[in-house]
Amino acid sequence: MIPRHIGLIMDGNGRWAQGRGLPRTDGYAEGLTALRKTLARAAERGVQAVTVYAFSTENFARPDDETTAIVSVVRTFNRRYDGDMKVTYMGDVYAFGEDFADSVEDIEKRTENNGGLHLNIAFGYGGRDDIINAAKRCCDKGEFTREDFEANLSGAGLPPLDLVIRSGGEKRLSGFMLYEAAYSELYFTDKLWPDFDGDDLDAAIADFEGRQRKFGA
Ligand code: FPP
Repeated sequence: MIPRHIGLIMDGNGRWAQGRGLPRTDGYAEGLTALRKTLARAAERGVQAVTVYAFSTENFARPDDETTAIVSVVRTFNRRYDGDMKVTYMGDVYAFGEDFADSVEDIEKRTENNGGLHLNIAFGYGGRDDIINAAKRCCDKGEFTREDFEANLSGAGLPPLDLVIRSGGEKRLSGFMLYEAAYSELYFTDKLWPDFDGDDLDAAIADFEGRQRKFGA
């Protein structure tokens, strides 16, 4: 079975640039190129949704020039994208200023009726905060069934997160979709994100297809 929903933890952009004697910030534009190739292959393979971890709550501690570089790459994407994906965001996009938040509203509106792959961008997102916020909303409403809770997570409505891929050599989730990833298959590669492409996605999908999923049963 092809994974319905894939999470991408796109690690290694800064190291990729440093390894070429470039400023770390140059890695993010290359990271977007790698993402485009990966998304094209995901769509070809029939994946329904891809969620990408583009800025975590912990990334707010990064030097200003890195935050500025990431925001600039993503805002430009928001303004220029004219393909057939449906694009949505999750996380505190208002933390990046009005102009960025406007660009998010704009791309979400422009692409809401698109029928292609669903690209969900986690930006200013942290899985712990998301769980706490969902719990707070349930407490406020006085309704706290599992269904109420899940409906209040940012990833509500997306297909089950079947597979999480992390590039860059580290083997952890770093707060990515902590609730949704409870039974996701995890795939790690040492490749730095800008070197990742459609063939790497195919390798991850082939690995996924070889896994036996028993969900604890
Ligand atoms: C971690 O790599 C990655 C990020 C903090 C952001 C990645 C964002 C992009 C590639 C832009 C994607 C574009 C869109 C439109 C979603 P790192 O640079 O921290 O890795 P390293 O320091 O470990 O090398």
